[in-house]
Amino acid sequence: MCGIVGYIGRQEAAPIILQGLRQLEYRGYDSAGLAVLDRTGALQVRREAGKLVNLEQALTKAPISGVVGVGHTRWATHGPPSQRNAHPHSSPDGDLVVVQNGIVENFLELRQELESLGYRFCSDTDTEVIVHLIHHYYHNSSAGDLERAVQRAMQRLKGPSAIVALSSRHPDRLIAVRLGNAGGVAVGFGEGEMFVASDIPAILHHTRQMAFLDNRQMAVVTAQGAIFKDLYGRPVQKECVRIDWNPTAAEKGEFRHFMQKEIFEQGRSLTDTLRGRLDFQRHSIILDSLNLDAAQAQRLSRITIVACGTSYYAGLVGKYYIERLARLPVEVDYASEFRYREPLVAPDQMVLAITQSGETVDTLAALEEARTQGAFTAAIVNAIGSQAARVTDGHIAMQAGPEIGVASTKAFTASITDLLLLALYLGEQRGVLPEPQRRHIIRMLSTLPGLAGELLEEALRSERYRELAERYHTYHNFLYLGRNIHYPIAREGALKLKEISYIHAEGYPAGEMKHGPIALIDANMPTVVIAPRDHVYDKMLSQIEQVKARSGPVLAVAHADDNTIRAKVDAVLPIPVTDALLTPILAVMPLQIFAYEMAVRRGADVDQPRNLAKSVTVE
Ligand code: AGP
Repeated sequence: MCGIVGYIGRQEAAPIILQGLRQLEYRGYDSAGLAVLDRTGALQVRREAGKLVNLEQALTKAPISGVVGVGHTRWATHGPPSQRNAHPHSSPDGDLVVVQNGIVENFLELRQELESLGYRFCSDTDTEVIVHLIHHYYHNSSAGDLERAVQRAMQRLKGPSAIVALSSRHPDRLIAVRLGNAGGVAVGFGEGEMFVASDIPAILHHTRQMAFLDNRQMAVVTAQGAIFKDLYGRPVQKECVRIDWNPTAAEKGEFRHFMQKEIFEQGRSLTDTLRGRLDFQRHSIILDSLNLDAAQAQRLSRITIVACGTSYYAGLVGKYYIERLARLPVEVDYASEFRYREPLVAPDQMVLAITQSGETVDTLAALEEARTQGAFTAAIVNAIGSQAARVTDGHIAMQAGPEIGVASTKAFTASITDLLLLALYLGEQRGVLPEPQRRHIIRMLSTLPGLAGELLEEALRSERYRELAERYHTYHNFLYLGRNIHYPIAREGALKLKEISYIHAEGYPAGEMKHGPIALIDANMPTVVIAPRDHVYDKMLSQIEQVKARSGPVLAVAHADDNTIRAKVDAVLPIPVTDALLTPILAVMPLQIFAYEMAVRRGADVDQPRNLAKSVTVE
């Protein structure tokens, strides 16, 4: 979950690295540092605990001038957040520095081995074994060949790692390596300058041309370009990808937080998600990147969806879509459970990962498990060039643009929309979804971005959510209830509240109330219900009565024109009336806004919630 930025070229390195780290601060932020080769050819290092601004102040006091450097923002895995544990870590002679994202699982044995060779450690981190190991091989068995020394060292490491090494003895190059699923390594191509980063937004201001390292690959990056190899030094062909994201999309604009911007841009992001996928002539869905033809679709016996967190809740919605429209059984499993329960998977099944970052270690491991059992693997993924998009047989891009806020919002609605597209696609390919039904749903889908835009426009102008936050921000527990396709939306709404406002919240199937949760209801336990006028509406009304009878406050996500429910509850979070299939995508938006305003009212760090990171690349 750390952020890495490297630069080599003709401009001052420090400002470019700092700007890139600012874009990556959401990935990990309890300390930060950088190293630059100064004009005398010596490596200068600055490291500070706390937020990136502390490092910026240190550099203002003691600037470093040079055109080659590497920087890092840290989310602690080994060793508490502190200056001594901040990256870069240096070799004893100060000639070599390393930054890392990931974990060295065998660092204790390596540390003991290196200490027996005379190395003295200055930090509690696992990363420090990497720089000493490279230094050892460089001076003892690689005869001053830095690439060889890095390769030797990487072969000793166990666990996922992405690293960048810089040596004052080889000032014309950076060396980047990717081991396992430690988060991406992007190599950016400029004019007479090159970039390395753990995530696209860090360098998107400088270049749109990027290549991405795969597992056990390295890049030797000079100002003129990059050479890609495996860890035995054999050349590797890499495709250079043009990234079409809008660089300002990774900026907050007029919003206070990335999360707020990403909530309110869902009208546009849903437009992008649908772009190029609705065929209004054939009433079909276009999903070429899925690489699944009609024969394969007809052979499918089951789909297992694997994901974590918010993406898992999107998968629960997908189950309703795919079973209803494609008549295909769907199982949804936490990736962290799937990978360890010896799952029964077969070649006539699809294992579908949902992952915004494309780098979640449990989700990638679940895909690996599915691949070894011969299943058709697919991913619904947002981050371009991420591992999940590359290791699967097919994928569906969320096309939501960069999602910077740690709490996932627009990626969630994009995932659900992609799942609806997939269900329609499979229904047609399997011959179980007649054209008239497809035509109706596709026509409704084309109205989705407009409906989202209207809902969000009204919410942005309204004081409703700030007033609700004022009234409820001191409560300590919330219950979220939904039925059928809105049960996963209740789970997601609860997660949004808890992960950014630190209020305990639990999402539950409304029908389960009598089986336990109703014991919790009193005036101190507000209940949020999702109750559009669908086939279970009457059941939700009686649920509301039961909560109100026990003095429980009730907030209802409901149709804006529903006066029945308005008379029964303490507040309505309005959504427009539309096709039942689209309603879950809209119903989550008021819950996102409510959670956001509660977190702001409580003074929480909305974009960087404590203990969380945007991409969980370590177990
Ligand atoms: C959601 O708000 C959280 N940030 C978290 O649950 C997230 O959804 C989960 O870690 C999965 O991430 P992914 O979609 O990138 O795999």
